[in-house]
Amino acid sequence: MTAGWFITFEGGEGSGKSTQAKRLADRLTAAGHDVTVTREPGGSPFAERLRAIILDPNLEKHSPLAEALLFASARADHLEQVIRPALAAGHVVICDRFSDSTRVYQGYAGRVEPRLLEALELIIVQQTKPDLTIVVDIPAEIGLARAALRLNAPAAQAPSERTAKQPRSLLADRFESRGLDFHKKLREGFLEIARLEPQRCVIVDGQRSPDDVAREVWAAVESRLFTEAR
Ligand SMILES: Nc1ncnc2c1ncn2[C@@H]1O[C@H](COP(=O)(O)OP(=O)(O)OP(=O)(O)O)[C@@H](O)[C@H]1O
Ligand SMILES: [Mg+2]
Repeated sequence: MTAGWFITFEGGEGSGKSTQAKRLADRLTAAGHDVTVTREPGGSPFAERLRAIILDPNLEKHSPLAEALLFASARADHLEQVIRPALAAGHVVICDRFSDSTRVYQGYAGRVEPRLLEALELIIVQQTKPDLTIVVDIPAEIGLARAALRLNAPAAQAPSERTAKQPRSLLADRFESRGLDFHKKLREGFLEIARLEPQRCVIVDGQRSPDDVAREVWAAVESRLFTEAR
């Protein structure tokens, strides 16, 4: 049994997960909670090293299972080094993507047998399941357009300094650069998980203004977590 709360944000590219994770963290901090904000893939020094490999747009063709094992390895370290200690210390842990992204990207829309991913999830996540998962839902076209705008935003470096090796914010990562059909499938996958696990998941409409989405997220946190006796 953990002492804190574990909240994850899930959803497609550009849906507003990172924006909302930060807003929720600020609001919880202002309300006096200890908050740890983290992300996947990554979140611990070792897992961030794996993230750089996993998202490298120049990666050679490789085995989908090998890739899933890298995600699993990163998650095992992230849980051990960051998430579980923070929960044990009573923090609200907010994680920008977690195991639902694996289920959807590698399983539902990807090429790894869902039963293999289920087995990995059991081994790695164990009892550290999210108390609440916010699925930020948005049509794939809109999310991709937002992500593209972000890529084209004034960069910190002059174009001449950019290299093909630079990761996101200057270049789309390997998943962002997949086609529209892939992203439509991702959306379906997240909605399907939310439908199958309504106790854990809340869907929020990511097309509304950031303020409106944040209000909906806060309502979910209040009603799902803070009214529950533990
Ligand atoms: N509700 C919103 N309305 C309009 N634009 C938004 C909204 N929320 C976020 N944005 C903008 O859309 C872009 C993507 O938002 P954000 O980075 O939060 O999405 P994300 O889900 O974390 O994306 P990714 O999956 O690529 O990490 C950003 O430029 C952000 O400022
Ligand atoms: Mg993000």
